[in-house]
Amino acid sequence: MNLAELNKVAQAMVAPGKGILAADESSGTIKKRFDTIGVESTEDNRRDYRELMFRSNDAMKNHISGVILYDETIWQKARDGTPLVEVIKQSGAIPGIKVDEGTKPLPNCPGELITIGLDKLADRLAKYYEQGARFAKWRAVIDIGPGIPSFTAISTNAHALARYAALCQAAQIVPIVEPEVLMDGDHDIDRCAEITEFMLKETFQQLYYQRVALEGMVLKPNMAISGKKSAKKASVQEVAERTVKLLKDCVPGSVPGIAFLSGGQSDEEATAHLDAMNRIGGLPWKLTFSYGRALQAAPQKAWAGKTENVANAQRAFSHRARMNGLASLGQWKADLEKKAA
Ligand code: 13P
Repeated sequence: MNLAELNKVAQAMVAPGKGILAADESSGTIKKRFDTIGVESTEDNRRDYRELMFRSNDAMKNHISGVILYDETIWQKARDGTPLVEVIKQSGAIPGIKVDEGTKPLPNCPGELITIGLDKLADRLAKYYEQGARFAKWRAVIDIGPGIPSFTAISTNAHALARYAALCQAAQIVPIVEPEVLMDGDHDIDRCAEITEFMLKETFQQLYYQRVALEGMVLKPNMAISGKKSAKKASVQEVAERTVKLLKDCVPGSVPGIAFLSGGQSDEEATAHLDAMNRIGGLPWKLTFSYGRALQAAPQKAWAGKTENVANAQRAFSHRARMNGLASLGQWKADLEKKAA
């Protein structure tokens, strides 16, 4: 393992003013997204849609440091025959790859999940490296509900995340470690913070046991936030303060950067939260975005599967990328959104 090189890639992934585009929706998830805009999920449509983002010059050159791809996309060619990986590299962004193989029910833990894909991961990583991937992603899912999460789910998923991270570094690939505590329930911000703290503590303990070099990874956590169905919605300032406190308690300063998932927050909320955290300042790591939905909802709607809408969709994507780029510097303002609208 060349740690200096891993650290260089990790630093580039969280470069000031930039963040990561999560475009790694599985076939099932992208179909769901396309259903809402009335587009059939064919291989060509998936290619066309992702190509339009990767060719959004303003977004890609100025605000996107890296793109997480799904297996299908890393082997795909643009309409003109250029490999999509090349299109991404030409923009200056780094190609990355989702390597987990989704989730399965966790035995003896009703309603809980374990992320799978460790078997043969070393072989797959070598192929992805050859194809141009310099970082990877693995997502663990922890749900909050009556009686859950169990310690079994937390420790088993943290263990798998650390196994994955160690395998990535051995393959000279920077692991994005994503322990996602879902915001789907009716729990309040206190409960989210309590479970997220537990999951992060356990994750870093497992990373230590498995000798993962923290300088060569990026953490992708959820924020401390109220559940979507909570009766009590925490304010932007409260989300920012609670999240920063939690991260300071759990994430060693040798981790170069933290790139949040959006997890079902609205576009503007995800931006406002990131901005408010960066305004707190004095943090040991970079704080930026690794958003899927909060970057893509607007361009998907603008595109709606029509060639004549491509330029509009690219503008919508570039706008969100710019807003989040500003938020990564603590320089976003709500009226920038209105001006664009
Ligand atoms: P969201 O930002 O839509 O949560 O997606 C990010 C991601 O990569 C989840 O694994």
